[in-house]
Amino acid sequence: MGQTSYHVTLIPGDGIGPEVIEASRKVLEATGVRFDWDVQHAGAAVAEREGTPLPEAVLDSIRANGVALKGPVTTPIGSGFRSVNVGIRKALDLYANVRPALTLPGLPGVRSDVDLIVVRENTEGLYVGIEHEVIPDVAAEATRIITRRASERVVRYAFEYARRNGRREVTAVHKANILKITDGLFLKVAREVAATYPDIAYREMIIDAMCMQLVVQPEAYDVLVLTNLFGDIVSDLCAGLVGGLGVAPGANIGETLAVFEPVHGSAPDIAGKDVANPTATILTGALMLRHLGEREAAARVEAAVAAVAREGRATTADLRSCQPNARLIGTQAMADEIIRHLS
Ligand code: NAI
Repeated sequence: MGQTSYHVTLIPGDGIGPEVIEASRKVLEATGVRFDWDVQHAGAAVAEREGTPLPEAVLDSIRANGVALKGPVTTPIGSGFRSVNVGIRKALDLYANVRPALTLPGLPGVRSDVDLIVVRENTEGLYVGIEHEVIPDVAAEATRIITRRASERVVRYAFEYARRNGRREVTAVHKANILKITDGLFLKVAREVAATYPDIAYREMIIDAMCMQLVVQPEAYDVLVLTNLFGDIVSDLCAGLVGGLGVAPGANIGETLAVFEPVHGSAPDIAGKDVANPTATILTGALMLRHLGEREAAARVEAAVAAVAREGRATTADLRSCQPNARLIGTQAMADEIIRHLS
């Protein structure tokens, strides 16, 4: 009897999404793990066709399969439909956004010693975009809701992650000196949760100081836990430390469901040109493999990505300055290169 297939929802998304998702799919299948992909469409193109960027069928598919691999989706700025990403995370209660930032060997010019895990609260705070005009064109207001429940479960997730993955420390990042009530609650709950994990060290950093520390000595930090908007910003900063958005994977985790997607967006400036770096989405696929219990296949994908970077013979355009002597290759060729390095 052959091995059973994993039923996974596959959302190509907008812009470079279909290209990087195709690259990741190829690498995942090359590991020998079997998948039964349920391809679902969300995003700007769907909005034009179906009147909504997030058809209910997409959510139903994720609910049925439990797991999705998702490409980035364009969100119009200022007007237009609300973010599909926020919609998925809220509808499926994917409360923890996990974004590892790990230095790939062989990329000179980026920090050599970064191994950070950013855990971002995913369902509330400023990022969910509850806002309105108080007086049109004169004053506008946004609402930032922080709850004990959401704070507690995301901080607990960060500590559980630390314990499961042999990490030593969790840092709660906040602005409770100014946002005394909202971030004050987040911090109070973080302290309470930290007290129940005596085996994991705990510290606190104010968000602005954290940003400077991450640039100056990122190696001094381990797992970071943040509210939604701070987590959004800091995870891009961390991606920059290790080579940029082209190599930064991510996962949205709930109690029973999980949606895996890279940190980057739909990159309309390079879409359709076969130049996007698929590494972020391939590493995102590795996170998904580990979630499915396929630890060995996940490690093989990560090792293949690291081997290609270490050898430095081929690179996508975004990392050219890190590897000036490497041959310039496109999105699908990078996937093939990584497949060639699978042990
Ligand atoms: P972006 O991440 O799409 O692009 C920022 C810059 O990084 C661009 O210069 C782009 O070319 C480059 N870049 C991104 N990914 C790359 C890759 N894999 N390889 C090489 N270069 C890469 O961010 P931007 O421009 O702010 O957003 C574009 C759209 O994406 C917006 O509509 C935004 O709302 C959406 N977005 C969607 C996300 C998601 O679906 N999870 C996350 C972030 C943004």
